[in-house]
Amino acid sequence: MSKIKVAIIGCGTIANNAHIPAYMNNPDAEIKYFCDIIPEKAEAAVKKYGCGTAVVDYHDILGDPEIEAVSVCTPNKMHSTISIDFLKAGKNVLCEKPAARTLSEALEMQKAKHETGKVLNIGVVNRFNAGVNKLREMIQSGEFGEIYHIYVSFRAHRSIPGLGGAFTDKSIAGGGVLIDWGVHYLDIVMYCMDDPKPLTVSAKAFSKLGVDMKNYVYEGMWSEETKDLNGVYDVDDFVTGFVRTAGPTISLNGAWAQNIGVSETYIDFLGTKAGARLQYGSDFTVYTTACGGLVSLKPKFTPNAHFQNEIDSFVRCIQTGEKLPSHIDKAIITATMMQAMYDSSEQNREIVLG
Ligand SMILES: NC(=O)c1ccc[n+]([C@@H]2O[C@H](COP(=O)([O-])OP(=O)(O)OC[C@H]3O[C@@H](n4cnc5c(N)ncnc54)[C@H](O)[C@@H]3O)[C@@H](O)[C@H]2O)c1
Repeated sequence: MSKIKVAIIGCGTIANNAHIPAYMNNPDAEIKYFCDIIPEKAEAAVKKYGCGTAVVDYHDILGDPEIEAVSVCTPNKMHSTISIDFLKAGKNVLCEKPAARTLSEALEMQKAKHETGKVLNIGVVNRFNAGVNKLREMIQSGEFGEIYHIYVSFRAHRSIPGLGGAFTDKSIAGGGVLIDWGVHYLDIVMYCMDDPKPLTVSAKAFSKLGVDMKNYVYEGMWSEETKDLNGVYDVDDFVTGFVRTAGPTISLNGAWAQNIGVSETYIDFLGTKAGARLQYGSDFTVYTTACGGLVSLKPKFTPNAHFQNEIDSFVRCIQTGEKLPSHIDKAIITATMMQAMYDSSEQNREIVLG
């Protein structure tokens, strides 16, 4: 079987840290194009990985019949347009998270997927994480009893990315900590619980600590190379919310920055027989009782390279036609919840979804 030819659109952090190395490790894939609007970034990738051609405008490769798979690794603003253009050109797409800036853009992507019949997966990489899958298995097999509430915390002390750049400009990113980090956490909740229908959403998103960019004090800043203190900062750096679903209720607090000097990034699943705390990106602890006493334990599982698993699964699903758990139809549920949270915050009221 000939190798699947791939195009990488956007040669920044996530492309270099995850997508490109994973394709390079996959024996069934071959990168044909590195595309970035900054020519030096595309050229640097060609040089670094020793393959492919550098391209500045993705339109130039839409018509290449050899290309079967595309990774969209650009800022959120371009997710929808680029993904739809490639789907309509007959290509299979893996688009980074969040699906898009707004629910309506995500719905357009879903529509294009269904019209073209090509693959559209979103980079909800935790669905390919062995620890998350072990926890999901235990939840689904009833080991926790009824899970009635889930508490989500994605709070950092000072972790606003690239102030004034693509991450803090709402017109580019669609939002701040909720859409950037919250998307992963809500996605894990929905995946583990098998998508209970969201019913009502209440939330408040605050833009407080980063807005005075020149006086924002921090120890470290990811995406710092995109910092522009004359740029825009109009996104949430703290969010709090409450969701009723057809299953458990969900409460959440998220902070890119807060005046509390700890980072707490975990999800608590509260069940009638047992509970679990999943440390984001790591393992989980189960709390229960046995022999009249309190017990806590850490279930064993073999950790995996989840980005590699995500890319391998994408390549495989193009060959087999299998529907992956990261399919756009799943991502739409989280996009619906996040949109309702932003709407609730703006309108100062609860949003009823169904
Ligand atoms: N799955 C994860 O855990 C994870 C982690 C980090 C980032 N991301 C997502 O990946 C995306 C990119 O984030 P990043 O940190 O790599 O950003 P980045 O700024 O490092 O890289 C984005 C690149 O896209 C390029 N670009 C912009 N517009 C383009 C266009 N029209 N055509 C081609 N290239 C274009 C930029 O020049 C830049 O090099 C975001 O959507 C982000 O949310 C996901």
